[in-house]
Amino acid sequence: MEKNTLDALVKQLSEPDRVSADVWRALLSIDSSEEREYLFLKAREASDGIFGKGVYVRALIEISSYCRNGCRYCGLRAGNIFAERYRLTKEQILRCCERAAAMGFNTFVLQGGEDYVQSDEWIADVVRSIKLAHPDKAVTLSVGERSRDGYALMRNAGADRYLLRHETASDEHYAQLHPSAMSGAARRAALETLKEYDFQVGCGMMVGSPGQTKEHLVEDLMFIDRLSPQMVGMGPFIPATGTPFEGYKAGSVDETLLLIALVRLRFPRALIPATTALATLCSNATERGILAGANVVMPNVTPLDVRNKYTIYDNKKSCGSESGEQLSSLDDRLKRIGYHIDYSRGDYPTSNE
Ligand code: 5AD
Repeated sequence: MEKNTLDALVKQLSEPDRVSADVWRALLSIDSSEEREYLFLKAREASDGIFGKGVYVRALIEISSYCRNGCRYCGLRAGNIFAERYRLTKEQILRCCERAAAMGFNTFVLQGGEDYVQSDEWIADVVRSIKLAHPDKAVTLSVGERSRDGYALMRNAGADRYLLRHETASDEHYAQLHPSAMSGAARRAALETLKEYDFQVGCGMMVGSPGQTKEHLVEDLMFIDRLSPQMVGMGPFIPATGTPFEGYKAGSVDETLLLIALVRLRFPRALIPATTALATLCSNATERGILAGANVVMPNVTPLDVRNKYTIYDNKKSCGSESGEQLSSLDDRLKRIGYHIDYSRGDYPTSNE
């Protein structure tokens, strides 16, 4: 591709008009490493322009490995006999927050399977207690699809953000990945509801999930463009033992990086994590994610006795720089590429900041 052509495509991502499917298609087709590096550079410039060289950290607390759903990719799917189940108590979660606060975190992310024993009311109560103890810190929830009233309860309890990946914007592909009780339409409607309730909302998809085509990714990017979320989480698919997709091959690190760069160029203000899945596939993937435009890392602070039980995919990383206990090693790694940890809450920046 001519340099001018590439520049013209990149420029379209910063225009207010909807980006056409053709533009996304052309950008997704870039396969020369030189062109990719150029996109990463542009994405990084966009990110640096808003966030500088600071990378936000979020303390990830995996609150339950029980799940009522049967998502075909996920190691925690109901019925996976290999999955070890645990459920944190309110006291355990509060202790985790206490530890995380002492480490310097200003955002707690409560993530779990769709475990209805941890009811909407129960989660709202936990959020209220966290906020009471840590009024200045942000609470992010990632506890799956809940009812409208449930979202309202959690928001009123003080939850600030909600992560709910759309997984894929194509209804047919969604049906390939999920059991018939779930639908892409319901997932997208849930994201709209969360926006309505004024959560900072995060969507996202797996890259390289079974059956995914380039056209699906075009649909994903067009969906993200319409939703205009505050956060976008994207990681490679990784096979999980005991799931129907255990024999499939993992998604590619390079393709994930390309998507991070494209989302960054379209949404300079978005909070985009270098995900654990990315870090699981390659030892310097966190750095590569940041250098492709990501600006968030989510180290794990789940109690150590259950931390290795939250196996949404095989060999999931939760130690080293992926663990909350080793923030200084993460900071060292970031410093080697010219970045550093920014310990502030890291809310979505408003446009006049
Ligand atoms: N590989 C990669 N990501 C996965 N997720 C679930 N299972 C897998 C897997 N096997 C992702 C989904 C989910 C998020 C919490 O983790 O996108 O939304």
